[in-house]
Amino acid sequence: MKLLVINGPNLNLLGIREPHIYGKGTYKDLKKYIRGYCSKNNIRVSIYQSNHEGCIVDMIQRAMGRFDGIVINPAAYTHTSVAIPDALKAVGIPTVEVHITDVMTREEFRRISYVSSACEKTISGKGFEGYIEAILYLKGRLNKQNP
Ligand code: DQA
Repeated sequence: MKLLVINGPNLNLLGIREPHIYGKGTYKDLKKYIRGYCSKNNIRVSIYQSNHEGCIVDMIQRAMGRFDGIVINPAAYTHTSVAIPDALKAVGIPTVEVHITDVMTREEFRRISYVSSACEKTISGKGFEGYIEAILYLKGRLNKQNP
């Protein structure tokens, strides 16, 4: 099983960026955490981050035929992008949306996610752990599909 984890704008600044909201863990810590979990569980994983919507769309398109599942934290693009969910729907790869914070209890504009419509599941407010929950969901989902 091969998974692609995509992180959107400003997530490269985790640890520096509003630590009272996003925590003290850095982006490097997040990558290490995801890679550690995947290597222990025999899951191949690629982790990508971009501050540019078009680059994220390009990466989703390139995932076609190369990845079995996608975990995406579109960050601010969650609330603005139509191109990202369109790309996810176009490639048809099972996808889980993750947010480190609980977007539903923050500012009103964060309650709208355009990306959700292209995802099987949304996990919010569980910190870095949310990425593992998303990977676990995809693992179960893909094993059921190809036992
Ligand atoms: C975020 C929530 C978004 O509203 C915000 O723009 C982010 C991060 C999260 O992980 O909690 O950049 O996706």
